[in-house]
Amino acid sequence: MDLREQLVKLTEIGIALSSERNVNNLLDLILAHARNFTSAEGGTLFTREGDKLRFQVTQNDVLSEKLGSGNTGKYLRDRTMPITKTSLSGYTAATGDVLNIPDAYAIPATAEYHFNDEYDRRNNYRTRSLLVVPMKKMDGEVIGVLQLINARDGKGGIVPFHAEYEPLVLSLASQAAVALNNAMLTHDLKQAYLDTIMRLAIAAEFRDTDTAVHIRRMSLYSAAIAEAMGYTADGVEQILYASPMHDIGKIGVSDRILLKPGKLTDEEFAEMKKHTTIGAAILEGAEAPVLRLSYEIALAHHEKWDGSGYPYGKKEADIPISARIVAVADVFDALSSVRCYKPPMPFDKAVQAIREGAGKHFDPACVAAFDKALTRIQSIYREYSDESGAKHKLTGAMPALTRP
Ligand code: C2E
Ligand code: SIN
Ligand code: SIN
Ligand code: FE
Repeated sequence: MDLREQLVKLTEIGIALSSERNVNNLLDLILAHARNFTSAEGGTLFTREGDKLRFQVTQNDVLSEKLGSGNTGKYLRDRTMPITKTSLSGYTAATGDVLNIPDAYAIPATAEYHFNDEYDRRNNYRTRSLLVVPMKKMDGEVIGVLQLINARDGKGGIVPFHAEYEPLVLSLASQAAVALNNAMLTHDLKQAYLDTIMRLAIAAEFRDTDTAVHIRRMSLYSAAIAEAMGYTADGVEQILYASPMHDIGKIGVSDRILLKPGKLTDEEFAEMKKHTTIGAAILEGAEAPVLRLSYEIALAHHEKWDGSGYPYGKKEADIPISARIVAVADVFDALSSVRCYKPPMPFDKAVQAIREGAGKHFDPACVAAFDKALTRIQSIYREYSDESGAKHKLTGAMPALTRP
């Protein structure tokens, strides 16, 4: 590649990176582009967490051929190492300097850093050339390290990394740092948002933070159904985030009715039904797309396919699809778990009840999707059982959608 080609390529990579919002995909992309750019056989990407580096992704063409793709870096996941100048990536993280090492096994003994041959020994691999580059934000802060392994010469040989590549890889790593920083901010915002809506939803529905699992389950079931209906990843995520608010209107229902251990009188049930319109009133006029979706779900999740539901007795396609999905998830969860007014139904019986509701209570397409997603539904049911309440207490809000 001549310089012009390199610059064009760099620009293309920058654009690709800035449009990727999923942290996992982004990390994979950054490493793949950096390797491609330098003809590196393999590489590892670390992100900085305080005074540690976290191993994020490893790619290696030779090892993935030998061990099967996906097997090369597995053990690296969830591993961290302290940032000290004695390791190569630690040195780069601490100093912000690029290390261009022609032979990992010929580093002078006088150098502050040393090559750790654990990876080589473990995988029966031979690291030769290394290029270790900091991922620096605009303000100079190092938020990660790219370690590229074994530059190829195009004829099957391994050569040192060209020094002239250094500024370009450094620039690529900075672009990556900006994109990663943005993706992580988005991720943090999402977590904060989820945490907030979960707390609100729990306050509204149970007035007791131990019952977080119900709302999580409901929301995960809804997402699983949406996915089985062919929603895009974004669409699934919207449902996942919007559905926890479906019963927010219960905040306007008195404790006496909401927490009543027995059956509701007609009058009490009439009061209870208002949670749909109260919820809609709370969410009405919101601008964020996810809250608009929450609005339609809150209003219409008790409408029924055959028109016998409330508050308006809407039927079939007049009921928003989001609410038709949530209706299945909501009733399935109400049936299969304990409520203050009823014991739980066994899983299989609850599934049967949902199937029987197709075309009456529920949109048949949503029931078909529920059936299609049954394995996933069952694993959510198991993972988020009522007894798992302590494990899933509010600390982490929702299960993380993306690392880190
Ligand atoms: P929820 O407990 O979250 O239940 C949601 C929906 O699941 C119910 O909407 C209903 O369609 C379905 N469902 C729940 N349990 C059963 C059941 O044992 N059999 C059948 N066939 N379906 C069931 P619905 O009926 O409009 O109720 C809305 C909300 O009203 C319920 O939300 C719950 O908070 C409250 N509620 C309903 N019935 C009673 C009751 O007898 N006692 C008390 N204390 N609250 C009730
Ligand atoms: C590794 O174990 O692959 C990383 C070691 C280092 O950066 O020196
Ligand atoms: C999802 O269901 O879309 C993500 C949450 C999870 O897999 O636990
Ligand atoms: Fe409801």
